[in-house]
Amino acid sequence: MIRVHSLSKNFNNIPAVDQVSFEVQRGEVLGFLGPNGAGKSTTMKMLTCFIPPSSGSAEICGFSILDDALQVRAQIGYLPESAPSYDEMLVGEFLRFVGEIRGFSGRELNRRVSIVLEMTALREVENQMIETLSKGFRQRTSLAQALIHDPPVLILDEPTDGLDPNQKHEVRSLIKNMSEDRTILISTHILEEVDAVCTRAMIISAGKVVGYGTPDELRSRSLYRNSVTVSVNADNHVPLMNDFNELDFVYSVEHLPEQQQGLVSMRLYPKNKESITRQLEQYLCTKKIPLEQFVVNKGRLDEVFRELTVTG
Ligand SMILES: Nc1ncnc2c1ncn2[C@@H]1O[C@H](COP(=O)(O)OP(=O)(O)OP(=O)(O)O)[C@@H](O)[C@H]1O
Ligand SMILES: [Mg+2]
Repeated sequence: MIRVHSLSKNFNNIPAVDQVSFEVQRGEVLGFLGPNGAGKSTTMKMLTCFIPPSSGSAEICGFSILDDALQVRAQIGYLPESAPSYDEMLVGEFLRFVGEIRGFSGRELNRRVSIVLEMTALREVENQMIETLSKGFRQRTSLAQALIHDPPVLILDEPTDGLDPNQKHEVRSLIKNMSEDRTILISTHILEEVDAVCTRAMIISAGKVVGYGTPDELRSRSLYRNSVTVSVNADNHVPLMNDFNELDFVYSVEHLPEQQQGLVSMRLYPKNKESITRQLEQYLCTKKIPLEQFVVNKGRLDEVFRELTVTG
């Protein structure tokens, strides 16, 4: 549904997007991650035919962004960064206007406006002027205009930016529900969003793709992958730390700062990042060591993100 081949964009001879390639299938939600200025919005602007690429190409539902811009735009619902819109229009009026541009009229137009007002929970502000809306309502108005023609492809640039926690939750559910028969590309700075809605994620840094995979695949690159945090009563911990260091499936043991009085926590890093839960449980059982806590860490996306994007 989305095919991108070596897409690049230079501004004043400086590359903002540098030979980016990826594909997104129907039913997939691809999360686009990267630090500020990485090139996420620029890539999205090229895919939605807002700006032309310097080189490379892309197809949306088989239509080329270079040769079939009108067809490409018809397939896409686009929520641009910072939700720009027409301030002096009423919310309902704006959505009708966008619907008319998309070619709808009469009852069909009314039906579509009504559906998106419900989907984005905007009914209560239908007759309010856009410039008087709060940030979250503006964001949802912009999302509503992206959905009005029920497009097969959605390109959403930070769709939950500025929303309160409840609305973030609502919009994520909406994205998830819509994803079944659509193809969605969303950019975000919220790493928990990747787990909540994305089937895959791509990390870009300085215009280049530096990481790609399912959230779990990306997480498996974390230093913390399959590490186990064990908390015991403070009296037990010194000999235990030595014992842990001797275990052949343990690579290293880290003593963690005290979080609860009288309790000592240690993090055990496995050899080759493999799961050591079984072996460790067995060992602790044999040794009859009373445990206070036992937590298995699947790896941290924030750490992987930093590792891949902090340079120098
Ligand atoms: N019209 C433009 N003229 C010159 N430089 C631009 C233009 N648009 C973007 N850039 C530059 O291209 C780079 C990528 O910007 P882009 O907006 O794509 O980043 P982003 O990943 O979306 O960042 P953010 O997370 O802050 O939204 C930045 O260095 C930016 O300054
Ligand atoms: Mg951006």
